[in-house]
Amino acid sequence: MGTYKIVTYGCQMNVHESEKLAAILKGQGYSPVDRAEEADVVVFNTCCVRENAERRAEGNIGALKNLKAERPDLILAVCGCMTQQKGRAEALLKKFPFVDIVFGTYNIDEFGLYLQRRRGGEKKVLQLWEKEGPIDESVGYDRSGGVHAYVNIMYGCNNFCSYCIVPYVRGRERSRKSVDILREVKALLDGGIREITLLGQNVNSYGQDLTGEPEFPELLEQVGDLPGKFRVRFMTSHPKDLNERVVRVLAKSPNLCNSIHLPVQSGSSEILRRMNRRYTAEDYLAKVDMIRSALPECALTTDIMVGFPGEREEDFADTLKLVERVRFDSAFTFVYSPRKGTPAAGMPDQIPPAVKKRRITELVALQNRISEQKAAALIGQTVEVLADGEDLKKKGFLCGRTEGGRLVSFRGDPALLGQFVSVRIQAAGLSALRGEVV
Ligand code: 5AD
Ligand code: SF4
Repeated sequence: MGTYKIVTYGCQMNVHESEKLAAILKGQGYSPVDRAEEADVVVFNTCCVRENAERRAEGNIGALKNLKAERPDLILAVCGCMTQQKGRAEALLKKFPFVDIVFGTYNIDEFGLYLQRRRGGEKKVLQLWEKEGPIDESVGYDRSGGVHAYVNIMYGCNNFCSYCIVPYVRGRERSRKSVDILREVKALLDGGIREITLLGQNVNSYGQDLTGEPEFPELLEQVGDLPGKFRVRFMTSHPKDLNERVVRVLAKSPNLCNSIHLPVQSGSSEILRRMNRRYTAEDYLAKVDMIRSALPECALTTDIMVGFPGEREEDFADTLKLVERVRFDSAFTFVYSPRKGTPAAGMPDQIPPAVKKRRITELVALQNRISEQKAAALIGQTVEVLADGEDLKKKGFLCGRTEGGRLVSFRGDPALLGQFVSVRIQAAGLSALRGEVV
């Protein structure tokens, strides 16, 4: 019938939800194209976790003004976390009156309906739900990740970290039923998927909003115990909730990757308190020790923020100290960005941009050094890699990831794609390793 382009901002959850938008579009006869200029429907699936994500989305929506003027039949839709903020959708339509459809995070399943209404002649479709509704299992996904697939296990977050907008735009925690999750994972494995990432803002709280459902460690075990050889990852874990039971399950089940993403945010207990994280730096380190004593090889990755309101030099020094002590395999590092409506946005002592910049530069340099050292330590070792694509930068080479999530490039026949391959590491850099099949 026509063509579509989806532009996605933000986290894995959004990437996955764009796969749902793709399924809805394909269900109505649309096929994907690479460029908005060639599309009949363009969807912006937005993020609002930091200001720059919103700025980029706004810039790209604005850039389509002329295209829309040339082709009034082009349908422009905006959805996701940005539009779900109070009053934001209306403001967006005011700024970009040429946008046709606006909806939020809670009613993504209804996108097909909105598209039909627009095509049926309705000039503007502005549809937002105030609150989350029940989980809808009827809309599928058009996955685009090769041998890897995301599987959502829960929606929303109850934690209200003081800097974070997510609880306001994604609502309270809602878990999917384990039978639905297991059925979905099984179908994916039967269809050739070899790596599953279980997704949720706070996976350790899985099942707590339902009665008669397993808790997260049991769910993880049940997923890992499905027949066949495959990999399971999960994200994100909150340090206050990740417990020994999860680690024991990881140690026992060969299909579960020994890899944990455990956002620390800060190394200062005082900042953590004001972030409402409900753990101290000492608690975090104790958790890391617990993980490493049970699983010495477990990869640990994290999220860290600099420039939270009131962050003193001593607090930042504590963050550097924690990073040195833990030696994360990798870290996502962020500059604090005030989000309207969150408690931290109204806190005194917001940190000047120049100070934030200096701190982030120092933090990134430290973590890069550690990441490089950890990568170099793999030289000479043989690791298992799930071959998942051709290396576009090097002819005759494939790439894939280790259990710990590192990217590896190696010479190999495309027939190996989708298989687990033993690779001896010969060289290591910050972003990728190189090796040979053994
Ligand atoms: N400013 C900067 N970073 C943020 N994050 C969440 N909210 C903000 C904010 N207001 C970061 C956290 C979180 C990651 C997904 O994004 O580190 O773990
Ligand atoms: Fe945001 Fe905290 Fe929830 Fe993560 S746990 S989504 S940082 S409120």
